[in-house]
Amino acid sequence: MAHAETDAVKFAYWVPNVSGGLVISDIEQRTNHSAEYNRKLAQIAEKAGFDYALSQIRFTAGYGADEQHESVAFSHDLLAATTTLKVIAAILPGPWNPALAAKQLATISYLTNGRVAINLVSGWFRGEFHAIGEHWLDHDERYRRSEEFIRALRGIWTEDSFTFRGDFYRFNEYSLKPKPPQVPEVFQGGSSRAARDMASRVSDWYFTNGNTPAEIAKQVDDLKSKAKANNHSVKVGVNAFAIVRETEEEAKAVLAEIIGKANPEAVNAFGHEVKNAGKASPEGEGNWAKSSFEDLVQYNDGFRSNLIGTPKQVAERIVDLKRAGADLILLGFLHFQEEVEYFGKHVIPLVRELEDAEQAASLAAE
Ligand SMILES: Cc1cc2nc3c(=O)[nH]c(=O)nc-3n(C[C@H](O)[C@H](O)[C@H](O)COP(=O)(O)O)c2cc1C
Repeated sequence: MAHAETDAVKFAYWVPNVSGGLVISDIEQRTNHSAEYNRKLAQIAEKAGFDYALSQIRFTAGYGADEQHESVAFSHDLLAATTTLKVIAAILPGPWNPALAAKQLATISYLTNGRVAINLVSGWFRGEFHAIGEHWLDHDERYRRSEEFIRALRGIWTEDSFTFRGDFYRFNEYSLKPKPPQVPEVFQGGSSRAARDMASRVSDWYFTNGNTPAEIAKQVDDLKSKAKANNHSVKVGVNAFAIVRETEEEAKAVLAEIIGKANPEAVNAFGHEVKNAGKASPEGEGNWAKSSFEDLVQYNDGFRSNLIGTPKQVAERIVDLKRAGADLILLGFLHFQEEVEYFGKHVIPLVRELEDAEQAASLAAE
């Protein structure tokens, strides 16, 4: 049966544009942050059925990520090396301002047939802001600034004469020419109350850390009911670190090795920094609020989504996450090139079969 494209869960992978991979562990990783490795990975991913790649922005070393290539330039390079993949460039307000970001992204959209998107990150790394001489705002203030940033981007991209009076940004009858051929989609990272409130007003996509379907469903219910009240629609992306092997034992053994070889000093320092960053989030529901040592070994709680097992187990769990409200699964891997290819061959087809079966069952019930 032909699959209903619009309903199919989407797949994204983390671009390893930062050294050390996606886990804070000394386990051997064949992942590499070079341009050559990443271009080939992007080509493998689009062939394997991935819709998006997500680049990361970091300005300073920390917690295993000693070297970091800049996200917008790197994303453009990957777009130039591919034909259908969309690449999400991470943007951090503070170092970026909306005028430059809007102009830069409009040109990349023009150069790449409208395939660039952005991930507006609000920041968690105080030491990084200090190192580059940027003001560090309180948690909820960071989201107020991010919301203005997104409103400014949209206004610049869509209006002929854009005027904006915010607390952080101002524009006076500004006309960007040419406009991007496609208004870039806006993703956002963060899942605290402030993050959810912002997503329910302005973001196209809400990215959250890994979690169980039940916990994802709680966030999605809150997010969607707020968005409905605002007459806005927002989709949901959930992070996961996938370990897919022929047997469950093998997959679990890899997880045990990653955690066993975790660098405790780096993991604890990262945990301290992210929990501190969330402290000003008054309700205590932000990313990492409940993360254990094991969770923190993967930067965005990716083990919690439990995509660790055989292709069949992983496909079924992806469909469970979809039922909880996930429109997209964002994936990290240990050995990216080999595992993205394997995932495309052995997991995505099973997910599509399960989706088709579910669709057929619901049509039969009508
Ligand atoms: C999928 C995802 C990607 C993120 N990417 C980045 C990044 O590239 N750089 C960065 O500094 N922070 C990144 N973040 C962190 C968020 O911007 C935010 O600071 C963090 O999730 C704290 O959110 P909270 O409001 O829930 O506490 C990312 C978060 C998520 C969920």
